[in-house]
Amino acid sequence: MPDYLLEVAEAVREDDGGAVADYIPQLAEASPDTLAIAVTTVNGRTHAAGDVDVEFSIQSISKPFAYAAAIMDRGLERVLRTVGLEPSGEAFNELSLETGTHRPKNPMINAGAIATHQLLLGEDADEDARVERALDFFSRLAGRPLAVDRAVYESEMATADRNFAIAHMLRTHGVIAAAAHDVVDGYTRQCSITVTAADLSVMAATLACGGVQPVTGERVVDAATARHTLAVMAGSGMYDAAGSWLTTVGIPAKSGVSGGLIGALPGQVGIGAMSPRLDEHGNSVRGVKMFERLSRDMGMHLM
Ligand code: DON
Repeated sequence: MPDYLLEVAEAVREDDGGAVADYIPQLAEASPDTLAIAVTTVNGRTHAAGDVDVEFSIQSISKPFAYAAAIMDRGLERVLRTVGLEPSGEAFNELSLETGTHRPKNPMINAGAIATHQLLLGEDADEDARVERALDFFSRLAGRPLAVDRAVYESEMATADRNFAIAHMLRTHGVIAAAAHDVVDGYTRQCSITVTAADLSVMAATLACGGVQPVTGERVVDAATARHTLAVMAGSGMYDAAGSWLTTVGIPAKSGVSGGLIGALPGQVGIGAMSPRLDEHGNSVRGVKMFERLSRDMGMHLM
């Protein structure tokens, strides 16, 4: 397996397509050549190749995990009253509200993730408590204590006009109750939690294991919530590339603008990849290629 993963990484190393995200200034500082792939099996073994110890901010890969935590905190019915389940067919930073209900279409786009973040814990919780909840939950998924990268958080907050606009719109429609600024602040800290590709593969493997962290043996997510989260990832995790992703790769997945990418194949493996250059949908160019190869070689396609 390690030799095979090395081959998978080397096969894409020379591909310099795409561009590092720069709408968050701190992300533009990332080395574009960082390349990592890690696979964690359901019995808790992680195989990896490349820069698996390089830390980066989790960004949108926080969204499925925060969604799972919100369902555990508030119940699925309450969460569904606020956020929908349908692919938006639009970019991750579009408002994409349903007509009539005004719910953000799904929890994987920014609007849905901002609305989901403020469901963590309960109505009376403040942002510090919600961020602590996310940190504790993500740390249990990764099996080690994680932390917020202050520089990434501050950099994104200074340029988060679009997310502030989204949060204000959500508030006019009654989708969020707390002050728009505070919710974006907490959501941005959630996105600034740092992980490695190896952490991501273990976190994804926990979803693949029906919610049991395969290294520590702890049940972090209940089985129904893990299944529901994977289903939402399959439909919306790759944004407006969700349809082509599901046909070519066929693994429930989630990408982030720092270049991370996770996939979870139920009952089999969790996969974490990292390569900062992104395609036009905001998905890692070399990450997508490595997933295509794994899916093809290992018969990982769900269908
Ligand atoms: O809200 C944002 O724009 C970032 N914190 C996260 C966006 C992201 O990772 C989109 N993924 N491709």
